Amino acid sequence: MINFAKHPSGFTVLTITNASATATISMYGAQVLSYSPLGRDNLLFVSSKSNYGEGKAIRGGIPVCWPWFGPHRTDARLPQHGFVRTRIWDLEKIEETPDESRVTMLCRSSKETRLLWQHDFALSLTVSVGKALTLELTTANTGEEAFTITDALHTYFSVKDIGSAQVLGLDGVSYADRVEKREETQREIVTVSGEVDRVYRSPSDCAVVDKALGSKVTMKKNGFPDTVVWNPWIDRAKAMADFDDGEYKKMICAEAAAVGKNEMLVIPGASITQGMTLSSEKI
Ligand code: BG6
Repeated sequence: MINFAKHPSGFTVLTITNASATATISMYGAQVLSYSPLGRDNLLFVSSKSNYGEGKAIRGGIPVCWPWFGPHRTDARLPQHGFVRTRIWDLEKIEETPDESRVTMLCRSSKETRLLWQHDFALSLTVSVGKALTLELTTANTGEEAFTITDALHTYFSVKDIGSAQVLGLDGVSYADRVEKREETQREIVTVSGEVDRVYRSPSDCAVVDKALGSKVTMKKNGFPDTVVWNPWIDRAKAMADFDDGEYKKMICAEAAAVGKNEMLVIPGASITQGMTLSSEKI
């Protein structure tokens, strides 16, 4: 069942309930805000201080960063992480079975998007809510010139305590450390005890383990050559107006991404699909 509600900021929020899970999705940003498999807690974190609307991204859930990840490469005035996380998407299609609900949302180029990025595109996101949560992001080039993109499904995982969180699957992987500004190789399981902002060059799956909660969420990736791990820690958390000072203890971002030199070329008439599946288990 899908329920449509108007958020006080004016956009629609879908609440999905089926035999396998519940989830909420904001049409502002096509952003999944919560996902709880049957009998389990919400896997996703959203800040209690988040903005909703007015050109600001929602701080949590799964923002879609597109058509560039991070700051724009040549123009610092352009919005960080692209512009689709602050646009209202169209609802394209809903398909439901008792166990799974699939929602497809669409964002097309327009006069406003051309002011930020001069390309014609159709970007669709299909979210399947079932025993697992699957996101499929399809970038179609509807214009006459090729373009390149970098992007991410910027997942905010909820954790009970960052001190007992781990990211598995990145051992031996080289990464760009964006805090220390150097290249490194991961030598052990990833844990967080300070600011972390890393681009791991690995298309492999990873998992976020919360030892305090006894849960493991596996993230399978398709078409995303990188995994970004981010936690702002104490000082950056304090500097963020849309994030409570202590919330760095409650979240970790592990993001299916294509960053920097892993940009993707999309030629006119072509499309590329990238995806991510989250499935949770008790450990
Ligand atoms: C991460 C980046 O993906 O997103 C960080 O690696 C960034 O550098 C973080 O600070 C949050 O970005 P924003 O724009 O949502 O504040």
